Amino acid sequence: MMILQVEVFYIHLKNNYDIIFAVLLSGLVTIFVTKKLRKSTEDIPGRLGLPLVGETFSFLSAINSTKGCYDFVRLHRLRYGKWFKTRLFGKVHVFVPSVVGAKTILTNDFQLFNKGYIKSMADAVGKKSLLSVPVESHKRIRRLLSGPFSMDSLSVFVKNFDKLLSTRFKKLAENGKSFVVLDFSMKIAFDAMCGMLMSVTDESLLEKIERDCTAISNAMLSFPVMIPGTRYYKGMKARERLMKLFEELITSRRSSKEPHEDFLQSMLERDSFPDDEKLDDSEIMDNMLTLIIAGQTTTAAAMMWSVKFLDENKEVQNMLREEQLIILRNKPNGALLSHADLNKMSYSSKVVKETLRMSNVLLWFPRVALDDCKIQDLEIKKGWHVNIDATHIHYDPDLYKDPLRFNPSRFDEIPKPYSYIPFGSGPRTCLGINMAKVTMLVFLHRLTSGYKWTVDDQDLSLEKKSHIPRLKSGVPITLTSLKDDS
Ligand code: HEM
Repeated sequence: MMILQVEVFYIHLKNNYDIIFAVLLSGLVTIFVTKKLRKSTEDIPGRLGLPLVGETFSFLSAINSTKGCYDFVRLHRLRYGKWFKTRLFGKVHVFVPSVVGAKTILTNDFQLFNKGYIKSMADAVGKKSLLSVPVESHKRIRRLLSGPFSMDSLSVFVKNFDKLLSTRFKKLAENGKSFVVLDFSMKIAFDAMCGMLMSVTDESLLEKIERDCTAISNAMLSFPVMIPGTRYYKGMKARERLMKLFEELITSRRSSKEPHEDFLQSMLERDSFPDDEKLDDSEIMDNMLTLIIAGQTTTAAAMMWSVKFLDENKEVQNMLREEQLIILRNKPNGALLSHADLNKMSYSSKVVKETLRMSNVLLWFPRVALDDCKIQDLEIKKGWHVNIDATHIHYDPDLYKDPLRFNPSRFDEIPKPYSYIPFGSGPRTCLGINMAKVTMLVFLHRLTSGYKWTVDDQDLSLEKKSHIPRLKSGVPITLTSLKDDS
């Protein structure tokens, strides 16, 4: 039986060798082409998992751990190398670890790529937010929002923030008790922002707005399902309350005869302007919320990290203090800081830069590919999310020698293009870049020219459920006035 089968096989082979050859050849070609195709689409390693879920649970579990959500990225790099892809919330995500990648994406923002916020993020800040609107509206809204955030317009903010800070530091030092820097910086950044945006100073109203903003911010990285008790549900309810409050504020401002010098007033003064020269009420409201959320948590985290880094690097702290004391001694007693003073803070500016390099307040910047394209010869499919991994770039030893060392003097040299991007780059560069820089400089001035401090908890665990890296302890410190010290 067996022999018969072999014979039949040979007869077939002999009679149909041309057909068999063609089939074999086409099979080989198919395997080759499939392999080639597979190679080009699988160039970026990684695991996509199930279509909807992918690795979402592993990502959420990193967010819920004290190692922070970047640990998800770190572990994937260990497994797959610098470039990797994954699937989160049903979408393919590629983490882009290079200067060339950052440049490719940021110089093609809006053309080949667009903001890739996940649904919960867009729901939280609103449809008219600078973070959610399409390109046509973005240009107009950004242009109209920018005025109050230019360096010139911020001189009133510098004075107000300096006054607020001086008073609060003095009180804390007199009190002599330990306090948590993160709580302090969140509150002061919030109060200063609300003062600048809408002149709200009433303590109970500030607390109410802050509670709702916190709930909204917490909802930004959550599953977008309206189930009572979830972070998303609480955030959406808080958003409803806050929008109602903003609406009432705008109505009362329109009928008020009192003079106001703030962001809201500058927007309402445009009421009679043509449509493309003003923002409508929902644009004003969504963007006030966006500015508070984008400005408060980021700046507060940067302040917290600066205190931590300066505590660990006393030499840097001493050099910084020296610069700030010179500025203080050259001013009349009790005088507030001016723009001219900030321009003299050359070493302090490098401390701010180094703080932002190492803290990576925004870990990565998300975008979506609008078409099939390539980044450094790697295939990116339309609809994929590409995340510019600023954290990886800022810690790249090829770009920053000894990257784990807090060394502000490394900024004596200008960083290579796209190697230093704490505020992003291109049409979506941080709108609050000037405000963040002056806030940090005023903070460092008052802290180091007036006080020394001890850190009362050295735990390095990160806060859970936060999309911004912050220490769980919030860095509790005790202040000592330099006057008492001498
Ligand atoms: C240390 C503090 C801050 C850091 C590190 C920071 C960082 C950033 C980064 C990296 C982006 C671009 C994100 C991207 O390209 O996807 C951004 C955008 C933005 N930032 Fe900031 N920011 C800070 C403070 C502020 C402040 C104080 C404000 C508000 C006054 C603010 C308002 C915004 C807004 C509105 C955008 C969106 C701009 C747009 O899409 O056109 N930021 N920020």
